[in-house]
Amino acid sequence: MMEKKGHNREQERQNGVGRPVHRPGRPGGHGHGPGGPGGSGGGEKAKDFAGTWKKLLHYCRKYLAVMVIAVVCAVAGTVLTLIGPDKLSEMTDLITEGILGGIDMDAVAGIGMTLVSFYVAGYILSAVQGWIMATVTQRVSRNLRSDISKKINRLPMWFYNRTTTGDVLSRVTNDVDTIGQSLNQSIGNLISAIVLFIGSLVMMFKTNGIMTLTAVLSTMIGFVVMFAIMGRSQRYFIRQQENLGALNGHIEEIYAGHTVIKAYNGEEKAQETFDHLNDKLRDSGFKAQCLSGLMMPIMTFIGNFGYVAVCVVGGALALKGSIRFGVIVAFIMYVRYFTQPLSQIAQAMQSLQSAAAAGERVFAFLEAEEMEDESSKVQQLKQTKGYVEFEHVKFGYEDSDRTIIHDFSAEAKPGQKIAIVGPTGAGKTTMVNLLMRFHEIQEGAIRIDGVSTKEMSRQEVHSQFCMVLQDTWLFEGTVRENLIYCTEGATEETMRNACRAVGLDHFIRTLPKGYDTVLNDQVNLSQGQKQQITIARAMIADKPMLILDEATSSVDTRTELQIQEAMDALMKNRTSFVIAHRLSTIKNSDLILVMRDGDIIEKGTHDELLKKGGFYAELYNSQFEQAS
Ligand SMILES: Nc1ncnc2c1ncn2[C@@H]1O[C@H](COP(=O)(O)OP(=O)(O)OP(=O)(O)O)[C@@H](O)[C@H]1O
Ligand SMILES: [Mg+2]
Repeated sequence: MMEKKGHNREQERQNGVGRPVHRPGRPGGHGHGPGGPGGSGGGEKAKDFAGTWKKLLHYCRKYLAVMVIAVVCAVAGTVLTLIGPDKLSEMTDLITEGILGGIDMDAVAGIGMTLVSFYVAGYILSAVQGWIMATVTQRVSRNLRSDISKKINRLPMWFYNRTTTGDVLSRVTNDVDTIGQSLNQSIGNLISAIVLFIGSLVMMFKTNGIMTLTAVLSTMIGFVVMFAIMGRSQRYFIRQQENLGALNGHIEEIYAGHTVIKAYNGEEKAQETFDHLNDKLRDSGFKAQCLSGLMMPIMTFIGNFGYVAVCVVGGALALKGSIRFGVIVAFIMYVRYFTQPLSQIAQAMQSLQSAAAAGERVFAFLEAEEMEDESSKVQQLKQTKGYVEFEHVKFGYEDSDRTIIHDFSAEAKPGQKIAIVGPTGAGKTTMVNLLMRFHEIQEGAIRIDGVSTKEMSRQEVHSQFCMVLQDTWLFEGTVRENLIYCTEGATEETMRNACRAVGLDHFIRTLPKGYDTVLNDQVNLSQGQKQQITIARAMIADKPMLILDEATSSVDTRTELQIQEAMDALMKNRTSFVIAHRLSTIKNSDLILVMRDGDIIEKGTHDELLKKGGFYAELYNSQFEQAS
């Protein structure tokens, strides 16, 4: 099994957030389902069919009125169809009676015309019903997709640690598709099938009791078989969907990490996992499809069996003279109307079942715990001065018991450059994530200009900082779009200046279309170039404060020096937080916080800390020795 441990940049790109990934290994080999929210767990758990459909219908409530119209159309169309055999029976009798003494063609033609007009009206009604349902389905699917997409933005950060992108993708595409198909076909089919079933039963009873009993008994077996099959196949449908999600997740993971996989010769292992998941999907898919495929032949058999029974019994009754020949003709049609809906009902139920399974996962996702609603938080900073205080901050990630930050207190005065240094895993990225309020702190407070970030909306907090992350994130779009990302009113000039400052302008101009080159798989940027773009992006965004997390870790020292100058200009009069492993870049900071295991162990300026001869001095000297 591939463990999702090593975090690669492409993966982070997919997630859109840069931070070390600590997820549980992908489920798949041990029979538990995709680790979704709120327990969209494995197939063994009882699924709430009625509850999910209630939710689905509630979700469609805007369209319920038109759906009722569609249902009425379906019912009316079916009723018209049901009158058919009665008329046909009349017509047959007219013909059989007339064979000897001359057929009353006018009467026959009259009945024929009535029949045709019934059938035409029935066709129109079912067409209208189909059109309405198709419209409703597409709208509901669109709404579901957009709700899922909006939900993704409201999910707390820790949610991303738990769910793989494949699961979410599968929800947006497959599950919504399944629900849509079911809405489109099943509801209409189910209703007309039920009406046809009950209606034909009523019409049969009205016509002849014994014949009805014959027809019903011979098709009874159908019921039993149908329910037996349906009960079993739902399990496999759920499993099929889950396995599909797991497979998608795996493919996505492998695709994103293909370099690493090749480097470690992990292809075979990946292939094994893939084969395993693929086989599981085949098995569950086979069982689900096979069982639902059995349904049709069985139903056809039962229908045919019914014809024979009706003909034999009908023949006997006709011989005795208790029924007329037309009744047999009518009953042959009634048997068809009576058994055909059985398979339709079975199929519709099946489709409703898989829609319920899909809906259950979609709603579990839509109902997953969200970030707290903040519409009531109106605290705004007008002219941000950039006075930032950390007061006894204590924090541990939401899904683990470990406390990462124990007691962090620090103060940044307006315009200061604050450096955070420390060994890997000390909690530096965590600290700036807390400052951005990507996570909620458990104790203490973080204040900007005296206002606790808890009293501001997240958006307000985010608008205070330009952030350059440890992991670069570029999207498919032109260089210009990537640079200007979400900054309104940025001029061409600002953009070029920023690129010049980070030493990127020349390179961009050598690209085939310059700033209009689309960044995709064909344009390969080096890691350092990607960093240059993200730094330029931050410069263009021009917000009151600045956070740099290892922003220049991948560029060469000469470019770094150049960026350094540009950065220093940018940082002027801006409170900045800089995380850097190369200590030479933060020597000129106003305050250096040395972190270790989530706590500040030393603080002061470069000179003070060197003089002190503590951890920082050791760190600095080790780099200095290396360099010389
Ligand atoms: N999303 C997360 N969920 C749970 N634990 C996390 C998460 N992100 C980080 N951690 C843990 O928090 C600790 C601090 O991580 P952090 O990313 O802040 O380190 P860092 O100082 O930035 O390290 P580096 O120099 O390698 O970037 C680590 O021990 C890590 O295991
Ligand atoms: Mg970090």
